[in-house]
Amino acid sequence: MPRQIVISAFAVLLCFGWLIAEKDRRLDPAVVYGPGPAPDRIVLTWAGDPASTQAVTWRTDTSVTSAVAEIAAATDGPEFSLKPRRVPAATEPLRSDLNEAHYHSVHFTGLDPDSLYCYRVGDGFNWSEWNQFRTAAKGPAPLTLLYVGDAQNAIWQLWSRVIRLSVLTAPGARFIVHAGDLINKSGADAEWGEWHRAADWINRTIPSFPTPGNHEYGGGSLDDHWRPQFTLPENGLPELKETNYFVDIQGVRMVSLDSMRMQQEQIDWLDRTLAGNPNRWTILTFHYPLYSAGKGRDMKKLRDLWQPVLDRHAVDLVLTGHDHTYARSNLLSGTNARSGKAGTVYVVSVSGPKMGQLTSDVWWERAAEDSQLFQVIRIDGGRLHYKSFTARGNLYDAFELRKQKGKANKLVNLVPASPENRRAPGGKNFIP
Ligand SMILES: [Fe+2]
Repeated sequence: MPRQIVISAFAVLLCFGWLIAEKDRRLDPAVVYGPGPAPDRIVLTWAGDPASTQAVTWRTDTSVTSAVAEIAAATDGPEFSLKPRRVPAATEPLRSDLNEAHYHSVHFTGLDPDSLYCYRVGDGFNWSEWNQFRTAAKGPAPLTLLYVGDAQNAIWQLWSRVIRLSVLTAPGARFIVHAGDLINKSGADAEWGEWHRAADWINRTIPSFPTPGNHEYGGGSLDDHWRPQFTLPENGLPELKETNYFVDIQGVRMVSLDSMRMQQEQIDWLDRTLAGNPNRWTILTFHYPLYSAGKGRDMKKLRDLWQPVLDRHAVDLVLTGHDHTYARSNLLSGTNARSGKAGTVYVVSVSGPKMGQLTSDVWWERAAEDSQLFQVIRIDGGRLHYKSFTARGNLYDAFELRKQKGKANKLVNLVPASPENRRAPGGKNFIP
C-alpha cells in the first residue's frame, strides 16, 4: 500500500476519533436536567386571591414522597426563620421524555394583604433557600407587571438575558405574563429545564401568569408538564383547567384565554366573566393574536369569534405572542378595523430568539422585526403606562391609556423617535 494512502487513512481515523470525543464532551440533557432530592423548578403562581394567598410549585426526584413548605412574615433580620408555619404539599408524579419526577405544590392561605413573606420548600431535610414575595394590596393600588411573548427556542442561551433585564428594569413588578410558547417542543423536559433555569430566582420571587401556546399543545393535548408545574386558578371552563382562568389584582382583572382549544365555548365564559367584572381595568392574554403581525398568519376566524365580546366589555389591553415579531395597535373596535379612536389596544410581542417577518397588512402604531423585547406595564388610578424595551434595554415603544368618565379610553402615543427595527432586504428569519 502506498505510504500516502496509509497516512490519509490514519488522518481520517484521527478525525473520526476527535469527532466522537468531542461529541462525548456534550453533557447528556437527562443528566443536566434530571431531578434530585433537593427542590428545583420552584415557581410562584396564584391559585386564589393574590391579596391573601400564594401558590408555589417545585420538583424533586421520586425519593421525595412527603414534601412541605414553610412560611413566615418577613423580618429585617433572620428571626422570621425561627417559627415558620409548616404546610404539607400535594405531590403528583410526572414521567417525561427524560425522567420520572415528583411535582409538589403548596397553596399558602390566610395571608395579610400587601405584606412581605419568606418561604422555603423541601422535605424537612433538604430545603430550598428562603425566598420572599409580597402579597397584593386589597383593592385598587398602583401595580406594575411584566409581559413577554414567546421564549420558545434556545431558551437558556438566548432568552436568559431578556427575562433577567426585564426584572432589572422593573424590580417592583408584581407578576410576569407569559403569552404562550414558553417552550418549543411540547413535553420536552430539557426545554422546561432551560425555561426554569433561565428565570431561576425570578420565578421564586415574582409570580408567573402563563397562558399556553400551540407549542405547549403537541399532538393536540396540553404538555404534561403544564398542570403539575403551574398551580393556577380553576375558575375557567372545567375542560380548560389552568389554561383558561382569571385573577383580580389591585383593581385589574387579568384573564387567560386558551386560544388553542374550545374557542367557541370560551365566548360565553368570557362574556360572563367580563360582565361581572368589578375592576376598573381589564387585561387579557392569550397566544394567538386577533390582529396578526406575521406574514400570512391572519386569524380572522378567531377575531370574528372573540373580538365582539372584547368590544362589548371595552377590554383595555390584549397581550399575545405567536408571530415572532412586534406590533402594537391604536384603539381598535369592530373586527375589520385597522385604525380607530375607541376600543382595545392589541399587542403582539416576542422575547425569545426565533424571528419572523411582518405582514404588509399594516394595522399597528409601532412594529419591529429581528428584535427580542419585554414590556413593563404600570397602572396607577385611571392611567395605564406601557413601555416596550429591546433586549439591550432601549425603549422601543410607549403609550398611555387614560380612563375618561363615561367615555372610551384616551390613548396617548409616546413612541420614541428612533427608526423602526426592520430587516434588511434579502434577510432571513433567525431560527435557532
Ligand atoms: Fe405560537
